[in-house]
Amino acid sequence: METNKPFLFLLFLAVSAVLADEDVFIGVNIGTELSDMPHPTQVVALLKAQQIRHVRLFNADRGMLLALANTGIKVAVSVPNEQILGVGQSNTTAANWVTQNVISHYPATNITTICVGSEVLSALPNAAPILVNALKFIHSALLASNLDRQIKVSTPLASTIILDSFPPSQAFFNHTVKPVLIPLLKFLQSTNSYFMLNVYPYYDYMQSNGVIPLDYALFKPLAANKEAVDSNTLLHYTNVFDAMIDAAYFAMLDVNFTNIPVMVTESGWPSMGESNEPDATVDNANTYNSNLIKHVLNKTGTPKHPGIAVSTYIYELYNEDVKAGPLSEKNWGLFSNNGTPVYILRLTESGSLFANNTSNQTYCVAKEGADTKMLQAGLDWACGTGKVNCAPLMQGGPCYDPDNVAAHATYAFDAYYHMMGKAPGTCDFTGVATITTTNPSKHFVHLTKIMSFPFNRMKLKRLIILIFAYFRSWYLSIFKVTFLS
Ligand SMILES: *[C@@H]1O[C@H](CO)[C@@H](O)[C@H](O)[C@H]1NC(C)=O
Ligand SMILES: *[C@@H]1O[C@H](CO)[C@@H](O)[C@H](O)[C@H]1NC(C)=O
Ligand SMILES: *[C@@H]1O[C@H](CO)[C@@H](O)[C@H](O)[C@H]1NC(C)=O
Ligand SMILES: *[C@@H]1O[C@H](CO)[C@@H](O)[C@H](O)[C@H]1NC(C)=O
Ligand SMILES: *[C@@H]1O[C@H](CO)[C@@H](O)[C@H](O)[C@H]1NC(C)=O
Ligand SMILES: *[C@@H]1O[C@H](CO)[C@@H](O)[C@H](O)[C@H]1NC(C)=O
Ligand SMILES: *[C@@H]1O[C@H](CO)[C@@H](O)[C@H](O)[C@H]1NC(C)=O
Ligand SMILES: *[C@@H]1O[C@H](CO)[C@@H](O)[C@H](O)[C@H]1NC(C)=O
Repeated sequence: METNKPFLFLLFLAVSAVLADEDVFIGVNIGTELSDMPHPTQVVALLKAQQIRHVRLFNADRGMLLALANTGIKVAVSVPNEQILGVGQSNTTAANWVTQNVISHYPATNITTICVGSEVLSALPNAAPILVNALKFIHSALLASNLDRQIKVSTPLASTIILDSFPPSQAFFNHTVKPVLIPLLKFLQSTNSYFMLNVYPYYDYMQSNGVIPLDYALFKPLAANKEAVDSNTLLHYTNVFDAMIDAAYFAMLDVNFTNIPVMVTESGWPSMGESNEPDATVDNANTYNSNLIKHVLNKTGTPKHPGIAVSTYIYELYNEDVKAGPLSEKNWGLFSNNGTPVYILRLTESGSLFANNTSNQTYCVAKEGADTKMLQAGLDWACGTGKVNCAPLMQGGPCYDPDNVAAHATYAFDAYYHMMGKAPGTCDFTGVATITTTNPSKHFVHLTKIMSFPFNRMKLKRLIILIFAYFRSWYLSIFKVTFLS
């Protein structure tokens, strides 16, 4: 027995290292232009149910930041474009912004990133001259509070500032914005921050007049002879997303910056559009986002930088029904405002991220007022012939409380129902059990913490995957070090 301890300890270290060094992630943008915007607590409930652990806000809404406190969810807040002139013209205004919107919430709310403006160079060109000052002032305020290492500062840019993006090796920045970009890149480099880019293969596809095949935009497999080849580098591109990110790397290289990692602050696909937007469909949106998530979490990197993962925020959590513009503008969301998914993402490797239609989740519970003897008989059957592991119900076990037959029966009935794959007839127990959509685990004070329904087996599987992922990311970090130095 003794010999197991160092192994278990290592196992623990490996797992905590993975959890601490979550080096690549999928996050979600939360736009708020909804006629009936859910309350922050409802938003956070959806994030938790879908296991979304990274979000980007387009502002620093106090209600949202309070609701996100103590959830473990990592938050990117934004200085809205309306406030950027003030922040970029006065370091006092910037310091006040940081105090009010960041310091007063940190660390309960884990703010990891400040996005200064949104596509400022293209959306608000008159603010371009003060953009870098805005970033510097915000950073100085963080530095003064000793938070500059925990919280990164950058500014999301539209990919339209990158010209001639195919082949990627010929990409360069629009010369008009270079006087701002070069000091910006210097700032990002000196603060170990990210080059934030919004990547929309949907628009690239729409504007290409048929030059870009739909499959290439959707990450669908292409015949080898259809893959786009960069004739200068001979690199093969199988999707627009990678080509766009490599174009950003090459555009940075063109102005002699080689070591600033790219982060994608927005990417997605609309699920509905006008009659002249025939490719804004549920199926294409599902395909794009499902493939994007798999691609990012697989840490494939891009042809130019294999293995350098590019964390990405999906655009977006909710359909924004009051957004101006064509119908597609209102239909980028993964969910409608009541938390119902617009489509069920086709994911198998994402762990519990984006669990399936949680509004459709069913549980098996003891019927209210059912006969105690009947419940006891059902409980005994489930723990015996039914082969449910009822150890957690023993005195001292995590599900012992509340210690009554109905609660214990609910535990055993639901475990059995899930074990049987929710097959029809597996939630009956001679009529004392019933199916519900309300998660019963909240009644078990300890249960929710220790073994949320369903199952340990899943957790063990995830643990093994995590350990594997740890060694893989350790191996890949060797590449990263080589690349970044
Ligand atoms: C603003 O900048 C001035 C001049 O560099 C400096 O003296 C002052 O301390 C700064 N204020 C804040 C709030 O950072
Ligand atoms: C916040 O997130 C960072 C990055 O993942 C993590 O290292 C840190 O421990 C978190 N802080 C808190 C207070 O949870
Ligand atoms: C370059 O940027 C300027 C200023 O935003 C814009 O007017 C111009 O059209 C851009 N050039 C190209 C080729 O996109
Ligand atoms: C990049 O570096 C090369 C070689 O040192 C130099 O010739 C070129 O002018 C530099 N370009 C810029 C934009 O600084
Ligand atoms: C995942 O990465 C491996 C190599 O690292 C690659 O062979 C595989 O095709 C990738 N899968 C997806 C879905 O991108
Ligand atoms: C999710 O479940 C709800 C409730 O059962 C249902 O109304 C909705 O259509 C489902 N959504 C999808 C995309 O299947
Ligand atoms: C979602 O449902 C599908 C089909 O039932 C299943 O294959 C997949 O594993 C589920 N995904 C998650 C994250 O539970
Ligand atoms: C929702 O539940 C119904 C009934 O159990 C099932 O037929 C359907 O496939 C489920 N939908 C999803 C998206 O899981």
